[in-house]
Amino acid sequence: MTYSIALVPGDGIGPDVTNQAVEVLDAVGDSYGHVFNYVELLAGGCAIDATGEPLPASTVEAAKDCDAVLLGAVGGPQWENLPGHLRPERALLGLRSALDVYANLRPAALLPQLKAACPLKDEVVGAGFDLLIVRELTGGLYFGERGRSEDGESAFDTERYSKREIERVLRAGYRAAATRRKKLCVVDKANVLESSRLWREVAAVVAKDYPDIETSYLYVDNCAMQLIRAPGQFDVIVTSNLFGDILSDEASVLTGSIGMLASASLGDPSPVPAGAKATTMGLYEPIHGSAPDIAGKDLANPLAAILSAAMLLRHSFGLEKEARAIEAAVSATLDAGFRTKDIASRGAAAATVAAGAAEEKIVGTLEMGKRVLEALAAGAAKT
Ligand code: IPM
Ligand code: MG
Repeated sequence: MTYSIALVPGDGIGPDVTNQAVEVLDAVGDSYGHVFNYVELLAGGCAIDATGEPLPASTVEAAKDCDAVLLGAVGGPQWENLPGHLRPERALLGLRSALDVYANLRPAALLPQLKAACPLKDEVVGAGFDLLIVRELTGGLYFGERGRSEDGESAFDTERYSKREIERVLRAGYRAAATRRKKLCVVDKANVLESSRLWREVAAVVAKDYPDIETSYLYVDNCAMQLIRAPGQFDVIVTSNLFGDILSDEASVLTGSIGMLASASLGDPSPVPAGAKATTMGLYEPIHGSAPDIAGKDLANPLAAILSAAMLLRHSFGLEKEARAIEAAVSATLDAGFRTKDIASRGAAAATVAAGAAEEKIVGTLEMGKRVLEALAAGAAKT
Protein backbone atom coordinates (compact mmCIF):
# COMPACT_ATOMS: atom_id res chain seq x y z
CA MET A 1 0.00 0.00 0.00
CA THR A 2 1.21 3.53 -0.76
CA TYR A 3 0.57 6.37 1.67
CA SER A 4 1.32 10.06 1.43
CA ILE A 5 2.66 11.89 4.46
CA ALA A 6 2.94 15.67 4.67
CA LEU A 7 6.27 16.33 6.34
CA VAL A 8 6.56 19.65 8.14
CA PRO A 9 10.00 19.75 9.80
CA GLY A 10 9.60 23.38 10.90
CA ASP A 11 12.29 25.16 12.92
CA GLY A 12 15.03 24.53 15.47
CA ILE A 13 15.40 20.83 16.27
CA GLY A 14 12.30 20.06 14.16
CA PRO A 15 14.34 18.89 11.15
CA ASP A 16 16.84 17.05 13.42
CA VAL A 17 14.10 14.86 14.85
CA THR A 18 11.80 14.44 11.83
CA ASN A 19 14.80 13.21 9.77
CA GLN A 20 15.18 10.34 12.22
CA ALA A 21 11.45 9.63 12.23
CA VAL A 22 11.47 9.39 8.43
CA GLU A 23 14.35 6.90 8.49
CA VAL A 24 12.39 4.76 10.92
CA LEU A 25 9.19 4.99 8.87
CA ASP A 26 11.04 3.96 5.73
CA ALA A 27 12.63 0.99 7.47
CA VAL A 28 9.21 -0.14 8.70
CA GLY A 29 7.80 0.39 5.22
CA ASP A 30 10.54 -1.82 3.76
CA SER A 31 9.99 -4.67 6.15
CA TYR A 32 6.18 -4.62 6.02
CA GLY A 33 5.72 -3.76 2.36
CA HIS A 34 4.39 -0.19 2.50
CA VAL A 35 5.57 2.85 0.60
CA PHE A 36 5.50 6.23 2.29
CA ASN A 37 5.72 9.24 -0.01
CA TYR A 38 6.65 12.47 1.72
CA VAL A 39 5.50 15.89 0.67
CA GLU A 40 7.77 18.37 2.45
CA LEU A 41 5.99 21.56 3.44
CA LEU A 42 6.96 24.89 4.97
CA ALA A 43 5.41 26.12 8.20
CA GLY A 44 6.57 28.27 11.11
CA GLY A 45 9.60 30.54 11.18
CA CYS A 46 11.18 29.03 8.06
CA ALA A 47 7.94 29.78 6.19
CA ILE A 48 8.01 33.38 7.45
CA ASP A 49 11.54 33.76 6.11
CA ALA A 50 10.69 32.18 2.77
CA THR A 51 7.20 33.59 2.14
CA GLY A 52 6.46 36.28 4.72
CA GLU A 53 3.75 34.22 6.45
CA PRO A 54 3.90 31.42 9.01
CA LEU A 55 1.36 29.18 7.29
CA PRO A 56 1.18 29.67 3.52
CA ALA A 57 -2.14 28.63 1.96
CA SER A 58 -0.20 26.20 -0.24
CA THR A 59 0.95 24.32 2.87
CA VAL A 60 -2.61 23.91 4.12
CA GLU A 61 -3.87 22.75 0.73
CA ALA A 62 -1.04 20.26 0.24
CA ALA A 63 -1.40 18.94 3.80
CA LYS A 64 -5.11 18.31 3.26
CA ASP A 65 -4.30 16.27 0.16
CA CYS A 66 -2.04 13.93 2.14
CA ASP A 67 -3.12 10.98 4.28
CA ALA A 68 -1.51 12.36 7.46
CA VAL A 69 0.86 15.09 8.66
CA LEU A 70 4.10 14.66 10.62
CA LEU A 71 5.40 17.87 12.17
CA GLY A 72 8.66 18.65 13.99
CA ALA A 73 8.42 21.94 15.88
CA VAL A 74 8.04 25.63 15.11
CA GLY A 75 9.40 28.86 16.58
CA GLY A 76 12.63 30.53 17.60
CA PRO A 77 13.97 33.73 19.11
CA GLN A 78 14.40 35.51 15.77
CA TRP A 79 10.62 35.53 15.25
CA GLU A 80 9.61 36.30 18.83
CA ASN A 81 8.93 39.99 18.41
CA LEU A 82 6.56 39.68 15.48
CA PRO A 83 2.89 40.60 16.05
CA GLY A 84 0.70 37.69 17.25
CA HIS A 85 -0.83 36.84 13.88
CA LEU A 86 2.60 36.56 12.25
CA ARG A 87 4.33 34.44 14.87
CA PRO A 88 5.50 30.92 13.94
CA GLU A 89 3.06 29.41 16.48
CA ARG A 90 0.21 30.64 14.26
CA ALA A 91 1.25 27.90 11.84
CA LEU A 92 0.52 25.21 14.40
CA LEU A 93 -2.81 26.69 15.41
CA GLY A 94 -3.75 27.27 11.77
CA LEU A 95 -2.93 23.69 10.77
CA ARG A 96 -4.81 22.21 13.72
CA SER A 97 -7.83 24.29 12.88
CA ALA A 98 -7.70 23.80 9.09
CA LEU A 99 -7.42 20.03 9.50
CA ASP A 100 -10.13 20.09 12.21
CA VAL A 101 -8.05 17.78 14.41
CA TYR A 102 -9.82 18.62 17.64
CA ALA A 103 -8.74 15.69 19.83
CA ASN A 104 -5.11 15.87 20.87
CA LEU A 105 -3.91 12.62 22.44
CA ARG A 106 -0.85 13.08 24.64
CA PRO A 107 0.20 9.82 26.29
CA ALA A 108 2.56 10.05 29.26
CA ALA A 109 3.84 6.82 30.72
CA LEU A 110 6.83 6.09 32.90
CA LEU A 111 8.99 3.59 31.05
CA PRO A 112 10.76 1.27 33.49
CA GLN A 113 14.09 2.11 31.81
CA LEU A 114 13.66 5.81 32.59
CA LYS A 115 12.59 5.53 36.20
CA ALA A 116 15.85 7.11 37.35
CA ALA A 117 15.17 10.17 35.14
CA CYS A 118 11.77 10.78 36.79
CA PRO A 119 12.01 13.67 39.27
CA LEU A 120 9.53 12.09 41.73
CA LYS A 121 10.62 10.01 44.71
CA ASP A 122 10.24 6.24 44.40
CA GLU A 123 7.56 6.10 47.05
CA VAL A 124 5.48 8.66 45.13
CA VAL A 125 5.89 6.99 41.76
CA GLY A 126 5.06 3.59 43.21
CA ALA A 127 4.27 1.17 40.42
CA GLY A 128 4.66 3.94 37.84
CA PHE A 129 1.97 5.58 35.74
CA ASP A 130 0.46 5.33 32.30
CA LEU A 131 -1.91 8.15 31.51
CA LEU A 132 -3.35 9.81 28.45
CA ILE A 133 -4.24 13.47 28.27
CA VAL A 134 -6.91 14.20 25.68
CA ARG A 135 -6.66 17.91 25.07
CA GLU A 136 -9.32 19.83 23.13
CA LEU A 137 -7.26 21.40 20.36
CA THR A 138 -9.32 23.65 18.10
CA GLY A 139 -11.40 25.75 20.49
CA GLY A 140 -11.39 27.54 23.81
CA LEU A 141 -9.04 30.33 24.79
CA TYR A 142 -6.69 29.64 21.89
CA PHE A 143 -9.34 30.43 19.31
CA GLY A 144 -11.78 32.73 21.15
CA GLU A 145 -12.22 36.40 20.50
CA ARG A 146 -9.28 38.45 21.73
CA GLY A 147 -8.15 42.03 21.58
CA ARG A 148 -7.17 45.29 23.23
CA SER A 149 -9.31 48.14 24.37
CA GLU A 150 -9.18 51.31 22.28
CA ASP A 151 -7.02 53.13 24.79
CA GLY A 152 -4.62 50.17 24.92
CA GLU A 153 -5.00 49.94 28.70
CA SER A 154 -6.56 46.49 28.76
CA ALA A 155 -6.59 43.24 26.79
CA PHE A 156 -8.82 40.19 26.72
CA ASP A 157 -9.02 36.57 25.52
CA THR A 158 -12.22 34.55 25.53
CA GLU A 159 -12.90 30.98 26.59
CA ARG A 160 -15.92 29.85 24.58
CA TYR A 161 -17.02 26.25 24.05
CA SER A 162 -20.07 24.91 22.27
CA LYS A 163 -21.82 21.74 23.42
CA ARG A 164 -20.79 20.12 20.14
CA GLU A 165 -17.10 20.90 20.66
CA ILE A 166 -17.21 19.51 24.18
CA GLU A 167 -19.14 16.41 23.20
CA ARG A 168 -16.87 15.37 20.35
CA VAL A 169 -13.65 15.60 22.35
CA LEU A 170 -15.27 13.78 25.27
CA ARG A 171 -16.27 10.97 22.91
CA ALA A 172 -12.69 10.78 21.65
CA GLY A 173 -11.64 10.43 25.30
CA TYR A 174 -14.18 7.68 25.95
CA ARG A 175 -13.10 5.77 22.83
CA ALA A 176 -9.53 5.89 24.11
CA ALA A 177 -10.54 4.91 27.65
CA ALA A 178 -12.39 1.88 26.28
CA THR A 179 -9.08 0.50 24.99
CA ARG A 180 -7.28 1.26 28.26
CA ARG A 181 -8.12 0.98 31.98
CA LYS A 182 -11.63 2.38 31.52
CA LYS A 183 -11.33 5.47 33.67
CA LEU A 184 -11.96 9.00 32.43
CA CYS A 185 -11.46 12.17 34.42
CA VAL A 186 -12.92 15.46 33.19
CA VAL A 187 -10.62 18.28 34.29
CA ASP A 188 -11.98 21.81 34.47
CA LYS A 189 -12.50 24.82 36.72
CA ALA A 190 -16.23 24.43 37.22
CA ASN A 191 -16.13 26.16 40.60
CA VAL A 192 -15.40 29.42 38.79
CA LEU A 193 -15.86 29.23 35.02
CA GLU A 194 -19.22 29.03 33.25
CA SER A 195 -17.62 27.25 30.27
CA SER A 196 -16.39 24.55 32.67
CA ARG A 197 -19.90 24.15 34.05
CA LEU A 198 -21.06 23.47 30.50
CA TRP A 199 -18.29 20.84 30.16
CA ARG A 200 -19.69 19.07 33.22
CA GLU A 201 -23.28 19.22 31.96
CA VAL A 202 -22.30 17.74 28.62
CA ALA A 203 -20.09 15.12 30.27
CA ALA A 204 -22.95 13.98 32.50
CA VAL A 205 -25.01 13.23 29.37
CA VAL A 206 -22.24 11.69 27.24
CA ALA A 207 -21.07 9.48 30.15
CA LYS A 208 -24.39 7.60 29.99
CA ASP A 209 -23.34 6.18 26.61
CA TYR A 210 -20.27 4.58 28.20
CA PRO A 211 -21.54 2.68 31.24
CA ASP A 212 -18.38 0.52 31.44
CA ILE A 213 -16.19 3.55 31.91
CA GLU A 214 -15.86 5.22 35.28
CA THR A 215 -16.23 8.99 34.93
CA SER A 216 -14.81 11.41 37.49
CA TYR A 217 -14.36 15.18 37.70
CA LEU A 218 -11.48 17.23 39.03
CA TYR A 219 -10.67 20.92 39.20
CA VAL A 220 -7.56 21.75 37.24
CA ASP A 221 -5.60 23.13 40.20
CA ASN A 222 -6.22 19.92 42.12
CA CYS A 223 -5.31 17.86 39.04
CA ALA A 224 -1.99 19.70 38.72
CA MET A 225 -1.29 18.76 42.33
CA GLN A 226 -2.49 15.15 42.03
CA LEU A 227 -0.24 14.62 39.01
CA ILE A 228 2.86 15.05 41.13
CA ARG A 229 1.34 13.56 44.28
CA ALA A 230 -0.03 10.31 42.84
CA PRO A 231 0.18 10.15 39.03
CA GLY A 232 -0.75 6.46 39.01
CA GLN A 233 -4.39 7.30 39.80
CA PHE A 234 -5.04 8.65 36.27
CA ASP A 235 -6.00 6.80 33.13
CA VAL A 236 -7.58 9.20 30.62
CA ILE A 237 -7.84 12.93 31.36
CA VAL A 238 -10.07 15.02 29.07
CA THR A 239 -9.70 18.76 29.27
CA SER A 240 -9.81 22.09 27.48
CA ASN A 241 -7.18 23.48 25.16
CA LEU A 242 -5.35 25.67 27.70
CA PHE A 243 -5.56 23.29 30.64
CA GLY A 244 -4.39 20.43 28.39
CA ASP A 245 -1.42 22.48 27.23
CA ILE A 246 -0.29 23.09 30.79
CA LEU A 247 -1.03 19.66 32.25
CA SER A 248 0.70 17.84 29.39
CA ASP A 249 3.94 19.71 30.00
CA GLU A 250 3.67 18.84 33.67
CA ALA A 251 3.00 15.18 32.90
CA SER A 252 5.85 15.05 30.40
CA VAL A 253 8.47 15.99 32.94
CA LEU A 254 7.35 13.07 35.11
CA THR A 255 8.26 10.67 32.30
CA GLY A 256 11.88 11.76 32.54
CA SER A 257 11.94 14.23 29.70
CA ILE A 258 9.68 16.23 27.43
CA GLY A 259 11.90 14.75 24.70
CA MET A 260 10.02 11.46 25.04
CA LEU A 261 6.43 12.56 24.48
CA ALA A 262 4.63 11.98 21.23
CA SER A 263 1.21 13.27 20.29
CA ALA A 264 -1.59 12.60 17.84
CA SER A 265 -4.27 15.12 16.89
CA LEU A 266 -7.33 13.55 15.37
CA GLY A 267 -10.62 14.61 13.88
CA ASP A 268 -13.77 12.57 13.48
CA PRO A 269 -13.08 8.90 12.86
CA SER A 270 -13.76 8.40 9.15
CA PRO A 271 -15.87 5.46 8.01
CA VAL A 272 -14.01 3.42 5.40
CA PRO A 273 -15.91 2.60 2.23
CA ALA A 274 -15.56 -1.07 1.27
CA GLY A 275 -12.34 -1.79 -0.59
CA ALA A 276 -10.91 1.67 0.09
CA LYS A 277 -7.62 2.43 1.79
CA ALA A 278 -8.24 2.95 5.49
CA THR A 279 -6.77 6.30 6.47
CA THR A 280 -7.88 8.96 8.92
CA MET A 281 -6.35 12.41 8.75
CA GLY A 282 -4.23 13.21 11.76
CA LEU A 283 -1.46 15.60 12.75
CA TYR A 284 1.45 14.05 14.64
CA GLU A 285 4.04 16.00 16.56
CA PRO A 286 6.44 15.56 19.42
CA ILE A 287 5.21 17.82 22.21
CA HIS A 288 8.63 19.36 22.86
CA GLY A 289 9.28 22.68 21.20
CA SER A 290 11.93 23.79 18.72
CA ALA A 291 14.75 24.09 21.31
CA PRO A 292 16.71 26.56 19.15
CA ASP A 293 19.71 26.47 21.51
CA ILE A 294 20.49 22.86 20.56
CA ALA A 295 19.26 22.89 16.95
CA GLY A 296 21.57 21.23 14.44
CA LYS A 297 24.01 20.19 17.19
CA ASP A 298 23.17 16.49 17.20
CA LEU A 299 21.83 16.79 20.75
CA ALA A 300 18.06 16.56 20.38
CA ASN A 301 16.21 13.46 21.50
CA PRO A 302 14.53 12.00 18.38
CA LEU A 303 12.43 9.48 20.31
CA ALA A 304 9.31 11.68 20.66
CA ALA A 305 9.28 12.23 16.90
CA ILE A 306 9.88 8.53 16.26
CA LEU A 307 7.07 7.62 18.67
CA SER A 308 4.86 10.21 16.93
CA ALA A 309 5.50 8.34 13.69
CA ALA A 310 4.34 5.16 15.44
CA MET A 311 1.14 6.94 16.50
CA LEU A 312 0.69 8.07 12.90
CA LEU A 313 0.84 4.49 11.64
CA ARG A 314 -1.62 3.35 14.31
CA HIS A 315 -4.21 6.12 14.24
CA SER A 316 -4.11 7.35 10.64
CA PHE A 317 -3.24 4.17 8.73
CA GLY A 318 -4.51 1.46 11.08
CA LEU A 319 -1.05 -0.19 10.98
CA GLU A 320 -1.00 -1.51 14.55
CA LYS A 321 1.72 -4.16 14.05
CA GLU A 322 4.03 -1.64 12.47
CA ALA A 323 3.39 0.90 15.25
CA ARG A 324 4.20 -1.70 17.86
CA ALA A 325 7.39 -2.65 16.04
CA ILE A 326 8.59 0.96 16.37
CA GLU A 327 7.60 1.15 20.03
CA ALA A 328 9.36 -2.14 20.75
CA ALA A 329 12.48 -0.89 18.97
CA VAL A 330 12.51 2.28 21.08
CA SER A 331 12.11 0.21 24.21
CA ALA A 332 14.92 -2.16 23.18
CA THR A 333 17.19 0.81 22.46
CA LEU A 334 16.57 2.14 25.96
CA ASP A 335 17.06 -1.37 27.39
CA ALA A 336 20.47 -1.43 25.76
CA GLY A 337 21.33 1.71 27.72
CA PHE A 338 21.34 4.33 24.95
CA ARG A 339 20.31 7.77 26.19
CA THR A 340 20.33 11.25 24.75
CA LYS A 341 21.47 13.80 27.36
CA ASP A 342 17.93 14.80 28.38
CA ILE A 343 17.02 11.28 29.50
CA ALA A 344 20.27 10.37 31.20
CA SER A 345 19.93 9.50 34.88
CA ARG A 346 20.08 12.40 37.27
CA GLY A 347 23.39 12.13 39.08
CA ALA A 348 25.81 9.26 39.60
CA ALA A 349 23.83 7.70 42.44
CA ALA A 350 20.74 7.35 40.28
CA ALA A 351 22.74 5.79 37.47
CA THR A 352 23.60 2.80 39.58
CA VAL A 353 20.08 2.25 40.94
CA ALA A 354 18.61 -0.15 38.44
CA ALA A 355 20.37 -3.39 39.27
CA GLY A 356 21.08 -5.51 36.22
CA ALA A 357 20.24 -2.69 33.82
CA ALA A 358 22.64 -1.95 30.96
CA GLU A 359 25.13 0.80 31.64
CA GLU A 360 24.03 4.13 30.21
CA LYS A 361 25.67 5.36 27.04
CA ILE A 362 25.07 8.99 26.12
CA VAL A 363 24.53 9.39 22.38
CA GLY A 364 23.49 12.14 19.98
CA THR A 365 20.44 12.46 17.73
CA LEU A 366 21.94 10.56 14.79
CA GLU A 367 23.27 7.65 16.80
CA MET A 368 20.00 7.33 18.73
CA GLY A 369 18.16 7.11 15.40
CA LYS A 370 20.65 4.55 14.12
CA ARG A 371 20.26 2.43 17.26
CA VAL A 372 16.49 2.41 16.85
CA LEU A 373 16.92 1.26 13.24
CA GLU A 374 19.18 -1.57 14.43
CA ALA A 375 16.67 -2.59 17.07
CA LEU A 376 13.94 -2.56 14.41
CA ALA A 377 16.00 -4.81 12.18
CA ALA A 378 16.76 -7.15 15.09
CA GLY A 379 13.04 -7.23 15.99
CA ALA A 380 12.06 -7.97 12.40
CA ALA A 381 14.64 -10.77 12.22
CA LYS A 382 13.03 -12.40 15.26
CA THR A 383 9.48 -12.40 13.88
C1 IPM B 1 2.01 22.67 22.40
C2 IPM B 1 2.71 24.00 22.31
C3 IPM B 1 1.84 24.95 21.48
C4 IPM B 1 0.51 25.09 22.18
C5 IPM B 1 2.47 26.32 21.23
C6 IPM B 1 3.82 26.20 20.58
C7 IPM B 1 1.56 27.20 20.42
O1 IPM B 1 2.96 24.50 23.57
O2 IPM B 1 1.76 22.05 21.35
O3 IPM B 1 1.73 22.22 23.51
O4 IPM B 1 0.37 25.90 23.11
O5 IPM B 1 -0.43 24.39 21.79
MG1 MG C 1 2.49 23.16 25.13
